[in-house]
Amino acid sequence: MTATDFHTFLRTRRSIRRFKADLIPDSVIEDILTTATFAPSAHHRQPWRFAVITESSTKAKLANAMSRKFQKELENDNLAPEEISRRVMRSKDRILSAPVVIILCVDMSEMDKYPDRHRKKAEFIMATQSAANAGVQLLLAAHAEGLGSVWVCSPLFAQDAVQKALSLPETWEPQAMYLLGYPTEIPQARERKSIKEVSKWSQTSPDV
Ligand SMILES: Cc1cc2nc3c(=O)[nH]c(=O)nc-3n(C[C@H](O)[C@H](O)[C@H](O)COP(=O)(O)O)c2cc1C
Repeated sequence: MTATDFHTFLRTRRSIRRFKADLIPDSVIEDILTTATFAPSAHHRQPWRFAVITESSTKAKLANAMSRKFQKELENDNLAPEEISRRVMRSKDRILSAPVVIILCVDMSEMDKYPDRHRKKAEFIMATQSAANAGVQLLLAAHAEGLGSVWVCSPLFAQDAVQKALSLPETWEPQAMYLLGYPTEIPQARERKSIKEVSKWSQTSPDV
């Protein structure tokens, strides 16, 4: 693979939110997770953990637990009941219609321990950055397999509900959810900010 091929590969990954019903072989999921674990991590402690859900009954348990929490929050926001049920149904449907759901968790138990808040916070950020790296590699590995996937942030808003629904070890803190399946369509790339907007060079580059 040339550098150009690799840039093209990276630039053609899309967030995919609609999937065919086709199942994903376990060996493919294992390969994707293995590639995810080749991500760099702080102190090489590999604080990522993955809960892999393929059976409908567990997806339903997860979707119900998350949507109860979601519903309560929308009620607190004083949204109209029809709008609440529309949003809750949509979020439930997304989980139920994905062939594979993976919850990414962070586990702090092997990270450094500090007595003060400042360093504790930095260590936690390092662990979540490391887990996020694994999340990105997971999306790219899925792309390499011809699968579609999307990063969903909702577990962050329902960490206890997710942990309980999936009986996760108590050190596993849910951070994100990935929905995976064979795509029904590949959407257009979303526009990106220019390099000029998102970078500051110490000296003016002729190209930027
Ligand atoms: C931290 C994070 C959280 C995200 N949360 C959601 C989400 O909750 N729902 C969703 O549909 N997409 C979510 N996305 C996907 C983004 O919307 C998507 O990456 C962005 O629109 C760019 O599109 P692309 O991935 O196709 O390039 C999330 C992405 C990241 C990195």
